[in-house]
Amino acid sequence: MKECTLSVKIGKMVLKNPVIVSSGTFGFGQEFEDFFDLNALGAIIPKGISLKPMIGNPPPRIFETEGGILNSIGLQNPGFQEFIKTKLPYFRNLKTHLIINFLGNTQKEYTELARRFDSIPGISGLEMNISCPNIKRGGIVFGTDPQMTYRLVRAVRKVTALTLIVKLSPNVTDIALMAKSVEEGGADAVSLVNTFRAMAVNIHSKRPELGNVIGGLSGPAIKPIALRMVWEVHQAVRIPIIGMGGIMCAEDAIEFMMVGASAIQIGTANLIHPKTGVEVLQGIKQFLLQNKINRVQKLIGVFR
Ligand SMILES: Cc1cc2nc3c(=O)[nH]c(=O)nc-3n(C[C@H](O)[C@H](O)[C@H](O)COP(=O)(O)O)c2cc1C
Repeated sequence: MKECTLSVKIGKMVLKNPVIVSSGTFGFGQEFEDFFDLNALGAIIPKGISLKPMIGNPPPRIFETEGGILNSIGLQNPGFQEFIKTKLPYFRNLKTHLIINFLGNTQKEYTELARRFDSIPGISGLEMNISCPNIKRGGIVFGTDPQMTYRLVRAVRKVTALTLIVKLSPNVTDIALMAKSVEEGGADAVSLVNTFRAMAVNIHSKRPELGNVIGGLSGPAIKPIALRMVWEVHQAVRIPIIGMGGIMCAEDAIEFMMVGASAIQIGTANLIHPKTGVEVLQGIKQFLLQNKINRVQKLIGVFR
């Protein structure tokens, strides 16, 4: 066997392959163009965008830990208008899907953003980050309350025909329950996981290593937990799953697909080795050919 089919379907999008680069770890794409041809990727997800610009959290914002990194960027981003004006045009010249990661502090902000993105050419899908505090409900995080999540997804679904992916927070007791709320709300797909709430202490200064004290843990340290969550969600919903959390190589990606992910995202690995995306893709292809599997879709959920 010399060839295999790598395409996968997520909602209305047909991706040429299942490798996506994750929000917040791939800038606005252009930063990575010197490393490889970005058109090789299944899709690109730029940094999360809010309605208004956000300045983010106080430094330090990144701290390396064993097998991972802690970040407390605080969702710094240029805001909708600036993104459309200065960042979006670059993606229009690429031949890969652009998925917009977006966030808000109220249901109104989420729906307003989704409605605005819906009318802009060049965008294939929306990935809704629900790991944000709802300022109207005393700061409770949207993605930790199934009812609130259901209502939010249903409201956003009404204003966009684009493929709607909802990105789950892993900071919950029952991730399958959250995924079910997302499915019932009408999302096309679910992506997981975002980072785990975590912290680090400097014993000399007796101070936190992050300016914001608490940040999000990502990288290889979280992979076994993320994998377990994808598997649990796969058993609970019928919509496609995009899996991520500590994927560093093709073998990691294949594990996620076998437990039920239709596509995968590369996050922290981009910050360590910018070419990880294409190398994971090559590795998946090699695995398929070596094992005489003619379509990557045949890997999805084969885990028993
Ligand atoms: C520096 C940094 C910034 C991130 N920014 C975002 C973001 O803006 N929106 C979002 O949904 N996820 C964001 N994430 C989470 C990643 O997209 C991904 O879900 C997480 O890091 C787990 O995957 P990984 O272990 O492969 O990094 C960020 C992660 C890192 C490390």
